[in-house]
Amino acid sequence: MKISRFPFPYLLLPVCLAVSGLNAQMPAPHLEKRGQTTQLIVDGAPFLMLSGELHNSSSSSLAYMEPIWPKLNALGLNTVVTPLSWELIEPEEGHYDYTLVDGLLKQAREAHEKIVFLWLASWKNGMSSYAPPWVKKDTTRFPRVVAHGEVVEVLSPQGAATEEADSRAFAALMRHIKEVDGNDHTVLMMQLENEVGVLGDTRDHSDAANKAFAGPVPAQLTAYLKAHHDTLYPRLRELWDANGDKTTGTWAEVFGDTARADEIFMAWNYGHFTQAVGARGKSEYNIPMYVNTWLGGDDATPGDYPSGCPEPWVMDIWRAAGTSIDIYSPDLYATNFVEWCRRYHRDGNPLYMPETRGEAAGAANVYYALGEEAGLGFSPFAIEREASDKDPLGESYATLAKIAPMILAHQQTGDIHGFVLDRDHRSVEFAMGDYALRVSLDNSFDGPTESAFGLIMATGNGEFLGAGKGFRVTFMPNPRTGPHVGIAYVEEGDFKDGKWIPGRRLNGDEDDQGEAWRFNPHAQSIEKIVLYRYE
Ligand code: DGJ
Repeated sequence: MKISRFPFPYLLLPVCLAVSGLNAQMPAPHLEKRGQTTQLIVDGAPFLMLSGELHNSSSSSLAYMEPIWPKLNALGLNTVVTPLSWELIEPEEGHYDYTLVDGLLKQAREAHEKIVFLWLASWKNGMSSYAPPWVKKDTTRFPRVVAHGEVVEVLSPQGAATEEADSRAFAALMRHIKEVDGNDHTVLMMQLENEVGVLGDTRDHSDAANKAFAGPVPAQLTAYLKAHHDTLYPRLRELWDANGDKTTGTWAEVFGDTARADEIFMAWNYGHFTQAVGARGKSEYNIPMYVNTWLGGDDATPGDYPSGCPEPWVMDIWRAAGTSIDIYSPDLYATNFVEWCRRYHRDGNPLYMPETRGEAAGAANVYYALGEEAGLGFSPFAIEREASDKDPLGESYATLAKIAPMILAHQQTGDIHGFVLDRDHRSVEFAMGDYALRVSLDNSFDGPTESAFGLIMATGNGEFLGAGKGFRVTFMPNPRTGPHVGIAYVEEGDFKDGKWIPGRRLNGDEDDQGEAWRFNPHAQSIEKIVLYRYE
């Protein structure tokens, strides 16, 4: 008698049930060091967030959001950064309303989107407009910042009752999210507050703040500075060194009697408050939490930008105040995109930007962020404004989605480079294994290309996969003394279900008669190159 390998189909049933209940056994979304980098792990696998942040008020109405989801989906987003406000979650003290949370989750799931929620609570852009009216009205229990001698409409981070109320509401929200999403994992991360900090003055001058400022710097902070001295952000280390690396003293004694001490004082206070909110939330449901930053210029005075916001030079102060915040993020609208990415991708801080420019700038920058800085994702602001299938960002997201598993794998091994080129940054060079690559703006029939972007991964010895637009690559031996390098062949192609489907063989003008690997300046492409060596 012939014995079937699978004699009874129903024997497969427990397997199917186990598979359908898979998420229940999967840990919640979390950050994990894999190889050389830290990645967001969702249901057991690294996840690349091709995301965008909604306008501030869009997600306050489910009806308003309804027609937006399909557009975001068409733009190629897999994750939507979605505001949620304290005022709508806890309109009356102790009475929570989760209608919006549940509705947004339902809509997101129907649209096959993941969510990053923004907890707009005590502060948003330095102000306190998202606190519920019962908080706003009670200035005794929830004290305000004093700036230039005036009480302003901003909650003071000195307020213990404010910290407790914000933390309690956030904990309730996280408990609810765990209840309704603990198996599905639609919610990937939470942003705590939004661009905190004092505007218009270097610090809070309320009585409580003045008293704390005249008192000792907490030992928790100086112990951290001492333990991490060599890896502190250089500007902070130099400031502390210049004032004698003191481990005791008032804020002005330890950090000098300037606006920088005020900024560090505010960073500690906002950091302490926000870390506490995060910790309370995580005790209910532990998923990654991050804060975002209104970037100040290097020479700007704190207060011109929110004083105490986690600028790169005070990120260590925030870290000293607690461990619930996993990521410090830039809201990266600045034109020197690369420089700011480097400032935030440092010393164990993964790069994620919840807000940045979209359209053509975003279409280019996303390649740098994911390819060069092992970004967890990318997220232009006001995403629904640009949601159309003609958008250049959509072209980037469509291309990157096809190679996302490879990008994630190569982020772990480090053999990936991303770049953005323009008239002021015409070329970059880097080594990958036995090859030195020079990537530069290409020349098309219409003349020199004005801008280009892309990424390159080393897929084998002398084999590379690239994606992007408008650049050319020439190869040299690494070290430079080895046999010459020639192009064996170049293929354009596509990925279907993870499998490479070759398209045209690119030769002649398309690879400069074997001299250079070229990428079309008019449309993004994915290309593979195989090199050979000769004496
Ligand atoms: C930065 C803020 O974080 C956003 O919420 C939004 O207000 C934008 N600025 C406006 O451009």
